[in-house]
Amino acid sequence: MQNSGRVNFGSKIGAILAAAGSAVGLGNIWRFPYEAGNHGGAAFILIYLVCVLLMGMPIMIAEFTVGRRAKASTGRAFSVLAPGTQWKWIGFLGVLAGLLILGYYLVVAGWTLEYILQTVVNGTVQQQPEDFVNAFQNFSKDPFRPVLWLLVFLLLTHYIVVKGVKDGIEKSSKIFMPVLFILIVVLAVCSISLPNAGKGLEFLLKPDFSKVNADVFLGAMGQAFFSLSLGMGCLSTYASYFGSDTQLGKTALSVGVIDSMVAILAGLIIFPAAFSVGIQPDAGPSLIFITLPNVFQQAFGGVPILATVFSLMFYVLLALAALTSTISLHEVVTAYLNERFNLKRSRAALFVTGFCIVTGILSSLSLGVWETKFFGLGFFDLLDFVTAKMMLPINGLLVCLFVGWYLKKSISREELTNGGVLRAPYYSTYMFLLRYVVPVAIFLIMINELGFI
Ligand code: PHE
Repeated sequence: MQNSGRVNFGSKIGAILAAAGSAVGLGNIWRFPYEAGNHGGAAFILIYLVCVLLMGMPIMIAEFTVGRRAKASTGRAFSVLAPGTQWKWIGFLGVLAGLLILGYYLVVAGWTLEYILQTVVNGTVQQQPEDFVNAFQNFSKDPFRPVLWLLVFLLLTHYIVVKGVKDGIEKSSKIFMPVLFILIVVLAVCSISLPNAGKGLEFLLKPDFSKVNADVFLGAMGQAFFSLSLGMGCLSTYASYFGSDTQLGKTALSVGVIDSMVAILAGLIIFPAAFSVGIQPDAGPSLIFITLPNVFQQAFGGVPILATVFSLMFYVLLALAALTSTISLHEVVTAYLNERFNLKRSRAALFVTGFCIVTGILSSLSLGVWETKFFGLGFFDLLDFVTAKMMLPINGLLVCLFVGWYLKKSISREELTNGGVLRAPYYSTYMFLLRYVVPVAIFLIMINELGFI
């Protein structure tokens, strides 16, 4: 039997940190602050937290249930729990989504390494605002440098995944996550203590309910989805390594709390610093790679070395957050190939890495020299669109239907209570959310993101 002797995470805290590592990523530090900024600040944050609680938590627990029950990675879990049915396609969809997300996520992850290097080499050189724009554009359109960095990032990811569940994923999460947490708290404290930081705090924390409309709700739900790594079986694959004493509800809550805290702290780094120097925080990749370097330089204008240290800590933070996420994406596919085709872990990982080299290079080139468009989108944007806007929500919806309507209730209850050992007073609320509320919510996000609302 493939299932017996399956490796587990060595400890409950290891399991929590690994799952939190998957969740905390570019989505928290880059996407969340800008979404919050554009959607009424604190009002958005409140709605976001409600979405995490009412929608994110039930799907996460459902993914955990599937993974731990089946003791198989997401690619096989549905065939194990519902043999001979079409539910198996959920697993394939997850594996494919993981592979495609890696193709563009790695490009941005690679950029963080260039910015670490640039900070070390040129950090103290005074630059004009337009220099930051030119630097980013020249770099991201270059056919070689970003490719080199994405390969370095991919190799790091590959190395950790090959080391295995305990010695690679769990061990690295136990080191990276505390470092990440310390960095983010230090950066937030520095940023809040800058002169005039109050305006940034107000922008982020004072609710402006006049800006709340359907778009804000849907934006918050979409953000919760991506940020919690839901809808592609990352967390269900990790749950297949959970021990029988890991508490699914408690673990989900811990991951939700850590992920939300990191997102809010990221906002507390970016907005106070930007407002302190009077720069309007921009949207999109330019916020992190164009606006922020400028902000850092000005915020600590008199003391270049301080700006360098702050900026270095920030990009290291970003790189670590991205790395624990790319590891989880890589693992979903590697574990599938390893189990399904009985490939050695190292060989399975090699296939995944090989595939990502191709998709990664193509998506990086599509931002510069490669101009071919698919349905009006470059390759990078195409991967982003197809995965984040279509595959993740569809997969999440199917997982809800599977656990809410197909899977025997006794199985869900057994998993939530660890076979009757724990009490799970939230069980009926969880089931209600999973069966009715979440599927409707996901359906709404999807038709909104596809432009039907
Ligand atoms: N949650 C990660 C982030 O916030 C992204 C991710 C999505 C990782 C889906 C794995 C699966 O950046």
